Amino acid sequence: MSVTLPQVNDDTLSRRLLHWYDRHRRTLPWRSPPGGQPDPYRVWLSEIMLQQTTVATVGRYFVAFTRRWPQLEDLAAADLDDVLREWAGLGYYARARNLHACAKIVANELGGCFPATEDGLQSLPGVGPYTAAAIAAIAFNRPAAAVDGNVERVMSRLRAIGEPLPASKPAIRAATLELVPHDRPGDFAQALMDLGATVCTPKSPNCLLCPWADACAARKLGIEAELPRKAPKKDRPVRRARIYWAEDTAGRVLMRRREEKGLLGGMLEFPSGPWVEADAADDLPAPFDSGWHNSAGRVEHTFTHFHLLLDVYVTDEVFETGPDTRHDWRWVARRDLAGEALPTVMKKVAVAALGSDALRKTRQS
Ligand code: ADE
Repeated sequence: MSVTLPQVNDDTLSRRLLHWYDRHRRTLPWRSPPGGQPDPYRVWLSEIMLQQTTVATVGRYFVAFTRRWPQLEDLAAADLDDVLREWAGLGYYARARNLHACAKIVANELGGCFPATEDGLQSLPGVGPYTAAAIAAIAFNRPAAAVDGNVERVMSRLRAIGEPLPASKPAIRAATLELVPHDRPGDFAQALMDLGATVCTPKSPNCLLCPWADACAARKLGIEAELPRKAPKKDRPVRRARIYWAEDTAGRVLMRRREEKGLLGGMLEFPSGPWVEADAADDLPAPFDSGWHNSAGRVEHTFTHFHLLLDVYVTDEVFETGPDTRHDWRWVARRDLAGEALPTVMKKVAVAALGSDALRKTRQS
């Protein structure tokens, strides 16, 4: 693509963006005040929370965590179950486990100091290339390119990178790195995030407010709203299972803990049969015999790599409380479910089951 633009050199672009940031930066709970010294613990904590979660959602979790565990050492000494409970609602619980493991490593093995380099940071649990770059830049003022979805959008527009994502990632990264200023890389990283979030938005970007408008190649070509292009997504496979809601005479619900490794690792769930391909043979066994019926309907949930259909089975039988026959089963009081770190898909199951006619009758009797 060829386009004639006023010559704006990289240094001027960086200065302009920083100037814009100095006047329009968002006030966010984890940000140090202008000119202030960033606290690596708070930077790291916020970046882990912001993985796959929006700024709006993270705010109150960040405040709750830092109130309860003001220093890295406090979090490292916390009980994992308390951390998981405080995390409930942020999703992807492997992140919370990694967060706790990372706090322990840094507090106990690294003398309380986070590594300052991208490589060093990436050796920690839960810290991938993006998070390492963001922490290196924001906490340690290293010239790193922290390229998230917002930054991909801004940079592919600025340089009119028309190749679809993800193939365009290396070009976007290189274009970003060229602009990182050596004096304020942390502010630059946050400025790019803010520009993408507030001005260079996915639909109807507000180019009139953009400090880079006159240098933006996509704007010149009139294709800013089309970028970044994305390779068509492959359809997510669909899996299905039956999931079972059983109660005992004390009003407790049968649950079990998932394997530590893998999807929703270590989280509580209601017992289900195997999660099989949608068109697999219908031979899904119940965990035990009872008068199971599907009056609680179906729950759907989309994970990163597949879509899950859960048919929620309830039973009118109310079980006597007795010793658990299987080590991974436990009975959880219905009123305690809200305080448990339940994955969202299991919350949906609880809502479906608690709303079902069969259970309403059970509770009245
Ligand atoms: N997204 C990821 N990291 C962020 C940060 N530090 N500030 C705002 N949005 C972000």
